Amino acid sequence: MSQALTDPRTAGSGWTLGMVGLGVMGRNFLLNLAERGFPVAGCDRDPAKVAQLRETGRPLGVAGTDGLRALVAGLRTPRTVMLLVPAGDPVDAALAELAPLLAPGDLVIDGGNSHFRDTDRRGAQLRAQGLEFMGLGVSGGEEGARRGPSLMPGGSPEAYRRVGPLLEAAAARAGGDPCVALLGPGSAEHFVKMVHNGIEYALMELIAESYDLMKRGLGLGNGAIGQAFRDWDAGVLGGFLVEITAGIFAQRDPRTGGDLVDAVLGVARQMGTGQWTSQSALELQVPAPTIDLAVAQRDLSALDALRAQASRALPRPVGRLDGDPATFLPHLERALHASMAVAFAQGFALLAAASERYGYHLDLATVARIWRGGCIIRAGLLEPIAAAYGRRPDLVHLLLDPDVARAVQDREDDLRAVVGAGARVCRSRGSCPPWPTWTACAAPGSRPT
Ligand code: 6PG
Repeated sequence: MSQALTDPRTAGSGWTLGMVGLGVMGRNFLLNLAERGFPVAGCDRDPAKVAQLRETGRPLGVAGTDGLRALVAGLRTPRTVMLLVPAGDPVDAALAELAPLLAPGDLVIDGGNSHFRDTDRRGAQLRAQGLEFMGLGVSGGEEGARRGPSLMPGGSPEAYRRVGPLLEAAAARAGGDPCVALLGPGSAEHFVKMVHNGIEYALMELIAESYDLMKRGLGLGNGAIGQAFRDWDAGVLGGFLVEITAGIFAQRDPRTGGDLVDAVLGVARQMGTGQWTSQSALELQVPAPTIDLAVAQRDLSALDALRAQASRALPRPVGRLDGDPATFLPHLERALHASMAVAFAQGFALLAAASERYGYHLDLATVARIWRGGCIIRAGLLEPIAAAYGRRPDLVHLLLDPDVARAVQDREDDLRAVVGAGARVCRSRGSCPPWPTWTACAAPGSRPT
């Protein structure tokens, strides 16, 4: 697609893109673009952030301007300005300041995690002023922004034609393809990014529960748990979240010299995108219980004072799973695989429903394809998902694809057995039936291979 487009590296004088918001994401995205040959500049209300951009961007020729007016004045026309500011009011405040400085035909990109309804509203307002507007989901955190994120743009094909080469150059690559594609009209991009984050919450919760079963259930040490995640990352569960989970067990706490993982608080708050995913799923009547529960668990974790009070009022010994960890771990891996596939299926079902309801015209194979690299939920599991929607773009539900369905069905007994074992942990070692009692009811062929 990019070959047909004008290359903005060479199409005129002035900066190709101006960034408003020089937090770590905005700064790193500019450095990424500059490294790929695009003349870019940025500004921020905080002079320290402008100074930091000038410092880190000097070798790549990135400019920092004092204020929005100077940024806009230095851009080639028609202008492209990208916002990377916190979602919500800061985006509206930045747009209110920016829009009067722009001319008809200029393009504004919102690269934050904005709510899709805000994107609809802002798009309508800016288009009424003659401006182009594009939402852009950016995933991959600081490192992704710098080295290659997964990019989820929306808006009009005309707007994409202008910035496509720039986005394709900056994006991660998977299987040789850039992890970016125009997703659809309206707020398709921010809906897709929201669901990406909902799936992210679910995968993180599933990983956390697997950790808990190994740590408290089996009583494994950090080294053995890290090894299990490393082994899983080398297999079908390979992906960014499993990989970084494996990595945490090798980290030391510089203050105590102990394992860092033991110093991490059991508290995970949220910026809200997971909650929005659940709210949208309820609104569209799409069951997404794995995502919903992950959101609830984050909320529960954030009630740390209440939880501390409850554990004082209701003390109970930590339960243990009896049995051989070497027998349990392959079942746990298979259960995690099945439940991750189900979490993806829930997310994709929500995308399908939203596409229908909001007229996004999403191509779900494309969504799976651009999530294979750069983003937080990148994982080997996305390959069969991309293949499933590639074969059947009208697939009603991912779990109706024969390959995905077989992978889940083959692991159903493992999932039931692991959930059962978790529910059955006993107050003291030796007082519960030894693992694996599940073999009595498991179907032949359900054993890990
Ligand atoms: C990404 C991440 C990133 C971040 C969110 C969610 O795709 O790079 O999803 O956007 O994780 O801001 O933050 P919370 O998990 O704190 O809600």
